[in-house]
Parts: sequence; C-alpha cells; structure tokens
Amino acid sequence: MKIYVPLDSAALSLGANDVADAIVAQAATRGLDVTVVRNGTRGMIWLEPLVEVETDAGRIGYGAVDVSDVPALLDGKLTSLGLVEQLDWMKGQTRLTFQRCGVIDPLDLADYEAHGGLAGLRNAIAMTPADVVEEVTTSGLRGRGGAGFPTGIKWNTVLGAQADQKYIVCNADEGDSGTFADRMIMEGDPFTLIEGMIIAGLAVEATKGYVYLRSEYPDAIDIMEKAVVLARNAGVLGADVLGSGRSFDMEIRVGAGAYVCGEETSLLNSLEGKRGVVRAKPPLPALEGFLGKPTVVNNVISLATVPVILEKGAQHYADFGLGRSKGTIPIQIAGNVKFGGLYETAFGMPLGELVDTVAGGTLSGAPVKAVQVGGPLGAYMPRDKFDTPFGYEEFDGQGGLIGHAGLVVFDDTANMLGMARFAMEFCAVESCGKCTPCRIGAVRGVETIDRIGKGDADAIPLLEDLCETMKDGSLCALGGFTPYPVLSALHNFPDDFATQKEAAE
Ligand code: NAI
Ligand code: SF4
Repeated sequence: MKIYVPLDSAALSLGANDVADAIVAQAATRGLDVTVVRNGTRGMIWLEPLVEVETDAGRIGYGAVDVSDVPALLDGKLTSLGLVEQLDWMKGQTRLTFQRCGVIDPLDLADYEAHGGLAGLRNAIAMTPADVVEEVTTSGLRGRGGAGFPTGIKWNTVLGAQADQKYIVCNADEGDSGTFADRMIMEGDPFTLIEGMIIAGLAVEATKGYVYLRSEYPDAIDIMEKAVVLARNAGVLGADVLGSGRSFDMEIRVGAGAYVCGEETSLLNSLEGKRGVVRAKPPLPALEGFLGKPTVVNNVISLATVPVILEKGAQHYADFGLGRSKGTIPIQIAGNVKFGGLYETAFGMPLGELVDTVAGGTLSGAPVKAVQVGGPLGAYMPRDKFDTPFGYEEFDGQGGLIGHAGLVVFDDTANMLGMARFAMEFCAVESCGKCTPCRIGAVRGVETIDRIGKGDADAIPLLEDLCETMKDGSLCALGGFTPYPVLSALHNFPDDFATQKEAAE
C-alpha cells in the first residue's frame, strides 16, 4: 500500500512528520506492507496534514490527520474525504503550473518525467533560441512577481544583447504578506522551476542561473539544493544538457531577509555580495544585470510556468484567461477565511467568487469587510468592488494591483485606519533608504495617520499629498506603491477615518 504524507512546510507545521513516522511505525508493528511517499501539498491548507492512500480508483484523502488517527487509518476505519481529485477545491481549478504539485515525490526525477516533466525542455532543445522566445511571447505569459511585464519581451531583450556571459536569476524572495506560491512549488515540484530556468537559459543563451531564495524558507532551500544535485547527476543540468551539447548550470543563493531584496535591482546587489539597495533604472537588468551582464530576472512562478508552455504549446496556454491576462494564475488565499490555500485558475474569476465561494467567507463568520490583494503594497478592496475580474488591467482600473496574487481577507472588526498606518510603518521599516520620498515620507506618513486618528481632519489632505509625492517620486515599488493600501483604506472606508475624528470631537 502506498500512502502519501506531504512534506510541505505548511503540512510540517501542522504535524505531518509525526503522522508519517506514526504510519511507518504502526504499519511495521502490524506487519503491513506500506510505503510512505512524501509529496508536496495540494494547496488545501485547512486539510493538512492531508494523507492520501493509493487505490485502484485513485488517491483517497484523509484530513486533517492527527497521530491519534493513524490506527483507524491503517484499519480502514477512518472517514475519508473521497477521491482527492474529485474534491470541489481541486475540481474547480485549472492546474497548469501546479499540475504536479502534491501529486509527485518532489525529489524523484523519474516520477517527474512520468508526469510530463522534461517534455517542455526536450521541445525547447529542438528549437532555435529565437523560436523559444517567440513561443513564450505568444503564450502571453507576464511576470508573476507583480509587475506583469511580458516575459517573452524581456527574454527578447536579453537574447538581443551582445555579451560573453548572460545570466538567469530567479527571484524567490517571496516577501508579500499572504503569499506562498513560490515556496509551495519549490517544495512540491522543484524540477519544474529548474526546467524553466534551463529553458530560459537556452532561449537567451545564458549558461548560468541563480535562485535567490529567502532564508525564511529553510525547507524550500533544502529541497531546491537537493533537486539541483539530482538534476546535475542525471545530466539535466551541466555541460551537456540532456545530451544536447548545450550547457546550463545553476546555484541556490540564500538571501538575508530584507523585503526590498524582492525588488530586482536590490536583489542583484545582494546576489553580488553588496548591500541590498535599489539601483536606478536604466540600465535595465536585461542589459546590465548580475555583475553588469545581461540578465533575465524572473519570479519563480513565471519560470515554473515555462515548461508547460513549451510542453503543450503557446496557444494552449493563451487560450485561458481574460484580455491581456493570459493563462492561469495561482491565487493564494489567506487571512480570515474558512478555506485557505492555493487555487490555480484562469484569469477572470471575480474577486467575490474567490472570497465568498472558493474561500467560503470568513472563518469568524462575521461579514467580509476588505480584501488586500497583492501583498502589503496592494489595495484594500471593499465588497462593492467584488465583481472585479482577476486580471492585471481589471485591478489597475479599480485602483489596485494583483501583485503576486495573494489575497488577505479581513472581517468587519478590521480598523482600516490601523491598516493604513501599518502600510506606512511597513514601508518605513523596510525602506532601503536610497530615496527621500520613501525614507522620510513613510515616517511622516505614520505621524500624519496618527494625527488623523486623534481627530485632526486637516491631516487628511496632507496624507493625500504625501501619497502623491511618494507615488511620483519614489525610485521603486516599495515607496511608490505604499500609497495603494493607504489611499484605498482612506477612500473605500472613509467611516473608519471619520469615526476617529468624530470620537475626538
Ligand atoms: P517594472 O514595471 O519597473 O518592471 C517590470 C519588469 O520588466 C522588470 O523586470 C524590468 O526590468 C523589466 N523590463 C521593463 N522594460 C523592459 C524591456 N524593455 N526589456 C526587458 N525588460 C524590461 O516593475 P518592478 O519595479 O520590477 O516591480 C514592480 C512590481 O513588483 C509591483 O507591481 C509590485 O507589486 C511587485 N512587487 C512584488 C514583490 C514580491 O514580493 N513579490 C515585492 C515588491 C514589489
Ligand atoms: Fe529604497 Fe524606498 Fe526608494 Fe525603493 S522607494 S529605492 S525602497 S528608499
């Protein structure tokens, strides 16, 4: 009997290792022939540890399993959830990037290949670099780190640059609140990211890659390091990628925990061993990036989506989605919700459907007040904007951004003046200090919001002016986008600011 127990860090934090150990020990005591496979998570975090038992009909799920459930599990007396693939959460999704996550053993290359892995790379090897770039451009894939810049166009700039050395840098410094898609795929399907980086290397003629991975992700670091060694030993990475005569190798580099190192130029500084401060653009990293050489800097999900595009074709990917937001997006649902986790779906699903139906509303049972979309720099969306379809332009049109596609849900006990203050405080703490609107502006922002909190109505236009200055004058998204949460809180929830004023009067 094959039993799957996730090794994803969300499952580990909920006791998955103890459950796996208990299954092995108690199966041995009973003389049962049980093989425990450690898979990634399916993304249904409220069911973790989700234990799956292989049967002729498919994998039957049990969750959330506790060590005390193990005897009943092995006796076949534990109530099951049914076939995992048939659960509503799974059936509703279009899993392209995450097709193998939770299904395979993340460190079993044969399992990876048996589930479609390396097919995209083999196709890419048979193509010219320009054709690979063209395929990615046609797919409509855009940067999943937040900015949504077309990946194929970025690659084309690097391909066209003349240099003796080019690089692929993967931004795995996933720092946005409520986001975990990068971590989940690195822990659950690391070869997909490796394959995507190799394809990127072949496409732009780069022979070396780095994953800049945040130190707060020790399990992801461990799995990625092991996966790189396995891929190298199997000839997938190295001097002769899959016998093609083309070369690509990569390393994992661990960041030290600054939010701003998720910004590509400060990431590059940090990767070079320098202080993680933002560089002015131009020059673009595509032309002068790591060590001054042309560099593709892409987010984990952008790169991990490339294999399926090369496997199934650009058109297959582009047929999903809405308008200029093509393909699928792994949405991460967190905060005060009944069902939190990762939900990959074609662009276009309305925000309200995600919050009320997929996430099941709030865990507290109180009405939803706001959803912050896109991390700490994203806007707070009120219920009257819940019909906004999930897409880059659609959110932009509502004064928001989708960012790295994290949703954090708040119920009606949230105080939006407090949330606006938190955004300014976050910016003040994480500012790299290079430019004045952010370094000084964020500190003044906290003080100004405190004045509003004490009933000073004159401070409201001052806060709006300050946000204008930060938006227009900041060098990078940290200072430039902090006004999104602040102004969205002020404009969408004026009562929370008025109440403070009236209370003081
Ligand atoms: P940006 O709009 O300046 O650039 C987007 C990307 O396109 C960059 O990689 C840039 O180098 C590249 N690019 C632009 N023109 C190009 C050309 N002609 N050829 C090749 N490449 C070109 O955006 P930026 O400042 O890189 O990122 C801002 C976004 O990042 C925001 O939307 C924010 O939500 C998100 N963000 C995400 C974080 C996270 O933790 N995931 C943290 C902070 C910000
Ligand atoms: Fe640094 Fe803030 Fe300026 Fe960005 S906006 S360069 S984080 S000081």
